[in-house]
Amino acid sequence: MKKASWLFKRLDLSLRTEVIINISLLMLAAILLIGFTTTKTNEKNILQEKTKNAEAIVQDIQTFFEFVFRDRKGLTLNHPIIKEEIQDFINIYNKERNFYNLIITDSDGKVIASNKQQWVDRNFKPLLLERSMKSNTREIELEKGNGLWIPEYRKLTISSPLWIQKKMVGGVLIELPLSDMMRRLIEYQRMFLTLIILDSIVLIVFGSFLLSRVLVKPVKELVSLTKKISEGNLNQTIEVHSNNEIGQLISSFNRMIEQLREKQEKIEKHLESLELANKKLKETQEELIRSEKLASIGRFAAGVAHEVGNPLGSILGYTSLLASEGVDKETGKDYLKRIEKEIERINRIVRELLNYARPTKFEIKEVEVNQIIENTLSLLSYQKSFKNIETRLEFQPHLPPIQGDESQLSQVFMNIILNAVDAMPQGGTLRIKTEECIVGNGFSTKFSEGDRLVRIKFSDTGIGIKQEDLKKIFDPFFTTKDPDKGTGLGLSVSLRIVESLGGEIKVESEPGKGSTFEVYFPVSQ
Ligand SMILES: Nc1ncnc2c1ncn2[C@@H]1O[C@H](COP(=O)(O)OP(=O)(O)O)[C@@H](O)[C@H]1O
Ligand SMILES: [Mg+2]
Repeated sequence: MKKASWLFKRLDLSLRTEVIINISLLMLAAILLIGFTTTKTNEKNILQEKTKNAEAIVQDIQTFFEFVFRDRKGLTLNHPIIKEEIQDFINIYNKERNFYNLIITDSDGKVIASNKQQWVDRNFKPLLLERSMKSNTREIELEKGNGLWIPEYRKLTISSPLWIQKKMVGGVLIELPLSDMMRRLIEYQRMFLTLIILDSIVLIVFGSFLLSRVLVKPVKELVSLTKKISEGNLNQTIEVHSNNEIGQLISSFNRMIEQLREKQEKIEKHLESLELANKKLKETQEELIRSEKLASIGRFAAGVAHEVGNPLGSILGYTSLLASEGVDKETGKDYLKRIEKEIERINRIVRELLNYARPTKFEIKEVEVNQIIENTLSLLSYQKSFKNIETRLEFQPHLPPIQGDESQLSQVFMNIILNAVDAMPQGGTLRIKTEECIVGNGFSTKFSEGDRLVRIKFSDTGIGIKQEDLKKIFDPFFTTKDPDKGTGLGLSVSLRIVESLGGEIKVESEPGKGSTFEVYFPVSQ
């Protein structure tokens, strides 16, 4: 069976074919078994009948013997009258039945009468006859050849002693042909074979039809349903037609689908609420970024006011000079040019400040890091506290672009630079270096070896960060500054922005010497 199922697997047969093949094999085995036993019984019955026949013939001859010797007590078997009567009897008998041989001998083995005239008066004692006369019983022998289904029966030989008043006087040997029996058996066999074929066809057709209705169809329905389910369609069930195992299977399957559907609905609801929460979180984050930006604007707007104040003062001076008398045309022109320059400066400052402060639409695209840093620095340059800080820029020319939003990136750089400025109240040096680098072994878990990154390195010579604070500086609201100077939001917001762009921030610091912030972004592909 294991072999058979392996074969079915190999042949990739459908359930219907498999069922039909199995039924046919079973049916064939059953029919062959029944056929074999009935043929054997039949064969045995015919043989028994034949044997009984042979025994009846012997009995007839014995009775005839008794009859012949009834009034002739003095005569022997060899007496011509007796011989003649026996021969007559055999001749009549032979006409009725067909023998191969029929021989009657006296006790010495001399043939008294036979259906073959040439044997009469000869000495003839076949082995079987001799044995039966010796044992004083009947002996039967069957001669048969080999056959496929039933042996090929040739003849039946029966020998028996003959008695007259219980005294053995001779013997009889009869050989009966079995060809008629063979004919009957073969005929029977042929009929049987025809029946097998007819039965098989009928049974296979009906069997497969019935089985298909009971088994194959529901299973096929189940299979197509599971296919639909695996494709995500949970809106279907199968009708239950019966209460048997298949019916139960289908009902439990239907129940399973029902439960799956309920679970799916629950998951979908859950997902919806998760999405909502996520959306809210994002909104809050954006708000946080915006409020941090506003806070930083507020702080350096104060610094800018001073920047705007200076040119305004000069403008006022020039206008009063212009208003006074005795200014020649040439000098007047010069004053006006200076006034124009100062106004231009104010205009630029205000425009840049507005540029930074204006809530822009968040948009991720390919951007040039060097350019954004330059813009940010130019905005910061109006800060009073920036005045005594030396900035050294080492920009890699033709730095590959990255993916990001310009105003958000500017916010990040602004935070880091402002922190550095805050850390150098007495002045110092701020180095900003940009370059492309390739990720090496063990650089971080975020990038894989060989990734191309843009690195922006901000190094200051400020007060540095205490070892125990290093872990906390990215926490929201962690600040070491006075409440009017720091919110503690700058780095946490910056980190969020950098990470949202797939980047990373690294910090190194030595208290009293300075800090280095490294920002990494993947190169835009
Ligand atoms: N370059 C730096 N040098 C020294 N300390 C720094 C530097 N950058 C950040 N810090 C520390 O990290 C803290 C958090 O910075 P940040 O999140 O920007 O908030 P804030 O600047 O409002 O305090 C700062 O208060 C400061 O103690
Ligand atoms: Mg800050």
